[in-house]
Amino acid sequence: MEIEIFSSRSAWFYNILVSLKLFQWAYGLAYRRISKLAPPGSRVLEIGPGVGELLKILDKGGYAAVGLDISPPMLKYAQRRAPGVSVAGASFKAPLRDGAFDAAVALFTLHHWGDHEPSVHEIWRLLKPGGYFIAVEVDLHRMPLVGSHGCTEECMKRVLGMKFAVTIERPFPLLVAVARKTQ
Ligand SMILES: C[S@@+](CC[C@H](N)C(=O)[O-])C[C@H]1O[C@@H](n2cnc3c(N)ncnc32)[C@H](O)[C@@H]1O
Repeated sequence: MEIEIFSSRSAWFYNILVSLKLFQWAYGLAYRRISKLAPPGSRVLEIGPGVGELLKILDKGGYAAVGLDISPPMLKYAQRRAPGVSVAGASFKAPLRDGAFDAAVALFTLHHWGDHEPSVHEIWRLLKPGGYFIAVEVDLHRMPLVGSHGCTEECMKRVLGMKFAVTIERPFPLLVAVARKTQ
């Protein structure tokens, strides 16, 4: 499996985009979806928090949020935005205990994971029974220009359907998969 790790230069550039508030609309959408499924105070895992903006919003909203990212330069920025809540690790190998989270979220990161199966099993392990995993991606069918930086509805259903009961919402230009751990 080929693993792509964001470099210091990519982290620096991504941090500029986030500081310019370019993705604020997407963080707002993800936050609203989480708060519909898990009340403040819940334990929420963000996989691939990048420079930590959604993590900061979750933290401020009263969630016990933890960020898990594979890129040390990204984690450095995340730790500045939301101190003390990020850990180094990967979607497919997390240094966290079974059933530790009420909900998990991954925003614009599923398409970086390569072979999805180990990640889907790991997220399932980390959630409590009845917990939700929310994955947000750009919809490749409606935004083909994003190329490999997006997903199709069929792909999300197939990947998450390995372990979860999945429903897909389509707020333009995104796909939001709500995946429930049923057993
Ligand atoms: C495009 S950035 C998105 C960051 C953030 N979610 C946002 O929307 O601003 C993708 C992030 O996912 C992380 N990432 C990629 N693959 C990962 C994996 N397998 N496990 C954990 N983090 C991963 C990257 O290091 C990067 O920080």
